[in-house]
Amino acid sequence: MQVTDVVTQPIDGQKPGTSGLRKKTRVFMGPHYLENFVQCIFDGIGGAAGKTFVLGGDGRFFNKRAAQVILRMAAANGAARVIVGRDALLSTPAASHLIRLNKTDGGIIMSASHNPGGEDEDFGVKFNMPNGGPAPEAVTNAMFARTKEITSYKILEAQDVDISTVGETTLADMKVSVVDPVADYADLMETLFDFDAIRAMIAGGFRISFDAMCAITGPYGVEIIENRLGAPKGTVVHGTPLPDFGGMHPDPNPTWAHELMDTMNGPDAPDFGAASDGDGDRNMIVGPRVYVSPSDSLAVLAANAHLAKGYTAGLAGVARSMPTSAAADRVAEKLGLPCYETPTGWKFFGNLMDDDRVTLCGEESFGTGSNHVREKDGLWAVLMWLNILAVRKMSVAEVMADHWATYGRNYYSRHDFEAIESDKADAMISALRARLADLPGQTVHGLTVTAADDYAYHDPVDGSVSEHQGVRVIFEGGARFVIRLSGTGTSGATMRLYLEALETDPTNFAQDPQAALAPIIAAAHEIAQISAHTGRDRPDVTT
Ligand code: G1P
Ligand code: ZN
Repeated sequence: MQVTDVVTQPIDGQKPGTSGLRKKTRVFMGPHYLENFVQCIFDGIGGAAGKTFVLGGDGRFFNKRAAQVILRMAAANGAARVIVGRDALLSTPAASHLIRLNKTDGGIIMSASHNPGGEDEDFGVKFNMPNGGPAPEAVTNAMFARTKEITSYKILEAQDVDISTVGETTLADMKVSVVDPVADYADLMETLFDFDAIRAMIAGGFRISFDAMCAITGPYGVEIIENRLGAPKGTVVHGTPLPDFGGMHPDPNPTWAHELMDTMNGPDAPDFGAASDGDGDRNMIVGPRVYVSPSDSLAVLAANAHLAKGYTAGLAGVARSMPTSAAADRVAEKLGLPCYETPTGWKFFGNLMDDDRVTLCGEESFGTGSNHVREKDGLWAVLMWLNILAVRKMSVAEVMADHWATYGRNYYSRHDFEAIESDKADAMISALRARLADLPGQTVHGLTVTAADDYAYHDPVDGSVSEHQGVRVIFEGGARFVIRLSGTGTSGATMRLYLEALETDPTNFAQDPQAALAPIIAAAHEIAQISAHTGRDRPDVTT
């Protein structure tokens, strides 16, 4: 088998975003596109020689072919071993776990997360570090710098490796270990949660519906919820991962997981509903006719984590992304826990977890997780909820009511305006930034601005600074809105408007969040001049 140095040239736009490089699948399938980026990953981490990597993806279109290319390139670049999920499948949290468990030099995850899959949809590649977490900006910047100067890449000329059966094989001098994608992850979950208590609750008639949305968590859900916890067959819905996710948009929110929402709002709703996303790191939690907002879910988990066996010692601290509501902060304050605010994106939590400053982390974008891995983890959140319900013997609605009674209710919503022309979105943000200094003291729709800034993060562990992480405008009484542009979209710009207001009067806890937030929504539109800049009056997706 021969290593070839293929002559190439830089390809524009290979800058990793919030979570790796995401592009249309056809772009990734274009000449040298994947190969260039993979070579730049290896170059950006100081080469692959002698190293061990984990490789897997969410099973979307091009997943298997890309895996074969990456294996040949790893071998050509001198990697010692690649641990690959059978059929190149691994959920993102399972990949993070395998990277840590096997003390590897990192891993390559093929996924565009919750973006639709298929030949005409999205594909993505990201690199995770030896700690199991997404590469930090210093590393992705080094990769990006290489994409602008690359002249050749190394690839082995070889047949496809058989990765359809668990076992050891080789590719030239490189070992290829094909592993069961689920087993190690499921074992980890058993160390964190009281499976006996959950099993007893299920045996007592507690009914669950878990929607895997034809994406990667199907096999994980079947093994853990049905096989190990004893839930009846059919508890996992849409459980077979498909290259196009069966045409579903595997993003667990009320808009895209509408089938689950219909079930949970229906006459014979199960006791607990949950969904996960394309690569298994997101989650949505629903009770019969109760939707748990992700910000609230993080707060509930923080308040109750000590009930699960992996967390009985209590939490070191809690972290949330800046646009996530302050519900978790209120729990942290009451429990006397350190609480951190970071920019959007899981990569910012890694340092805090590695430094033992926090145990739980979460984002409003349906992401919650803990230091058991260095990614957010959809099934972990589902199991944590089930463990809490099993111990507290309460319904989802009762847990929420009790939580709000104790901590108050942070009404919260995110409005997404999708596929805006990029120059219009940029102009809107620039105009807003230019006005920030003048905003304090102004009253808009009855709300007086107390502070307005362009959020910058100073990492307390490594001292790095990340600027321009979202514009935030705070009103008297603590209500606020945040505006930022998405870093994961693949066409045009997506503007995200995050809205929050704290309510402490229990007689006001039963409002519809959109109604409770109406004045802040109006003020945000007015201040940011959303319609004038983008021509949009209403969001495409509301969560
Ligand atoms: C989105 C979410 C963010 C999450 C990321 C990856 O990024 O908003 O919280 O970490 O997906 O799942 P965005 O598109 O906003 O940059
Ligand atoms: Zn995801």
